[in-house]
Amino acid sequence: MSRTSRTVIREIAEDDWVEFFPTFTEVIEAGETYAFPVGLSIDEARGWWLESPPGVTVVAVDESGVVLGSAKSGPNRPGRGSHVATASFMVSSAARGHGVGRALGEWVLAWAREQGYAAMQFNAVVETNVAAVALWQDLGFTIIGTVPEAFDSRGHGRVGLHVMHQHL
Ligand SMILES: CC(C)(COP(=O)(O)OP(=O)(O)OC[C@H]1O[C@@H](n2cnc3c(N)ncnc32)[C@H](O)[C@@H]1OP(=O)(O)O)[C@@H](O)C(=O)NCCC(=O)NCCS
Repeated sequence: MSRTSRTVIREIAEDDWVEFFPTFTEVIEAGETYAFPVGLSIDEARGWWLESPPGVTVVAVDESGVVLGSAKSGPNRPGRGSHVATASFMVSSAARGHGVGRALGEWVLAWAREQGYAAMQFNAVVETNVAAVALWQDLGFTIIGTVPEAFDSRGHGRVGLHVMHQHL
């Protein structure tokens, strides 16, 4: 468990998943950041967000226990790619802009270092997702390259996907 002045970050429990699921749905339906399938039920979505060891899924909760967001991390590739971690993040729209995403990002980087990963790679950061790109750069990631027109943004049409990376 990790604590900042605002949030506690801990492994997700079943009740947390139920509470977080509307945020998962909201982010997917917004159509700007993740290419998960649309219209998933809570049980169908489980396999897209809840990691099994060696991966991990956590939630950020406030002092009252309200779930503000979630992150997941684990190996980016199996076998000979498994020394590189990847991660995904979602913060509820009501909680954004108050440091929750940064706290989750810092938590995941510390976790990946503790687990012995050599690097962390984000495979698909939507180039128009300015908040995420700025946050990941601030946390030490660089843009390796951009896959052109690989994401069909609801608001911007086909835009690029950044591959972002940092050594740990
Ligand atoms: C990306 C996301 C996780 C950020 O979470 P958050 O709690 O709003 O982020 P924070 O409040 O910790 O902001 C951290 C940094 O992000 C950047 N940022 C946040 N909102 C921003 C905005 N609207 N415009 C530009 N930069 C922004 C800033 O660099 C900010 O740094 P600061 O703390 O110095 O101001 C959140 O917006 C989200 O869940 N978005 C939808 C899903 C998503 O995009 N996930 C990531 C996909 S790669």
